[in-house]
Amino acid sequence: MRVGLLTGGGDCPGLNAVIRAAVRKGIEKYKYEMLGIKKGWAGMVEPDAETIDLRSVSGILQRGGTIIGTSRTNPEKIDRGYEKVAGSFKVLKLDALIAIGGEDTLGVANKLTEMNLPIVGVPKTIDNDLSATDFTFGFDTAVNIVMEAVDRLHTTAESHDRVMVVEVMGRHAGWIATYGGIAGGADVILIPEEPFDIEEVCGSIQKRHARGKNFSIVMAAEGALPKDASTFMTKGQELDSFGHVKLGGIGEALAKEIEKRTGYETRATVLGHIQRGGSPTAFDRVLGTRFGIAAIDLVSARKFGRMVSLQGNKVVDVPIKDAVARIKTVDKDLFEIAKVFFG
Ligand code: F6P
Repeated sequence: MRVGLLTGGGDCPGLNAVIRAAVRKGIEKYKYEMLGIKKGWAGMVEPDAETIDLRSVSGILQRGGTIIGTSRTNPEKIDRGYEKVAGSFKVLKLDALIAIGGEDTLGVANKLTEMNLPIVGVPKTIDNDLSATDFTFGFDTAVNIVMEAVDRLHTTAESHDRVMVVEVMGRHAGWIATYGGIAGGADVILIPEEPFDIEEVCGSIQKRHARGKNFSIVMAAEGALPKDASTFMTKGQELDSFGHVKLGGIGEALAKEIEKRTGYETRATVLGHIQRGGSPTAFDRVLGTRFGIAAIDLVSARKFGRMVSLQGNKVVDVPIKDAVARIKTVDKDLFEIAKVFFG
């Protein structure tokens, strides 16, 4: 059997752990021929792949990024895109394809499943906003990077009596902001799920300063929105091929507004792609490994149209369509815990 592996969308620490695990078990136990599809769906629209052997996956567990490349190519936006992808199954002689990605990549995988193509999904995103799985790999690494950044911002904020605004990733869901904010001890956390009132934000900071604190940390997800949206701007209106606006700018806008309203000197830090780069944490290496093994087992059981998923501490499988039906937003109870520490 020939099995393709594809990584799509934004890269994510732990992708190589998934590839390594699926390839190791695929070759050693099932005697499959494994193929790496280059740069996400781009490598299926115009067939572009290379054989992955045991040597190719040696020493990649701790490496960030993806050894087979990724892209945000969307077959839907390409003339006869899905037809071309179906054709590539034949050209590349694929008996199965493991698609590792977030809502966009798995959205395509779901359409291909409806076309009866043999697909298995693996949930990936640092944003942790995919439904039907408790966690995606990459999220834990991102949260640890954010936590370390907040620890560092604390000492400089305190030395200068400043408010520090930290902008983190998360366009539709504030998981990184919530976990990173709780772990780092942020004084205010702003997420897309709960539009904020700038007066209340400034009030929390002032309350804190009134009890003797000389600095504050405000954590904002890039998709956080003020209740009165007219006061804040995002970076631009440029869209990627899945139709997402390239976000950014909330941190700077907030810093200006907080300084203007409170008189406290305020700075903004945008963590950006640092959250996606570098080595995965132990948690993400283990989760990626478990997902990779479960994915190749699904191929062997010919359970196509399924996605591996973490539920509690068990890796199970669910229909791919369940993962892409809607965004998984931050759990309200968790955000209530974060709120206890505001101000
Ligand atoms: O999809 C994951 C994500 O990290 C989002 O949180 C962020 O908005 C986006 O990717 C950034 O994408 P790009 O790599 O295209 O700049």
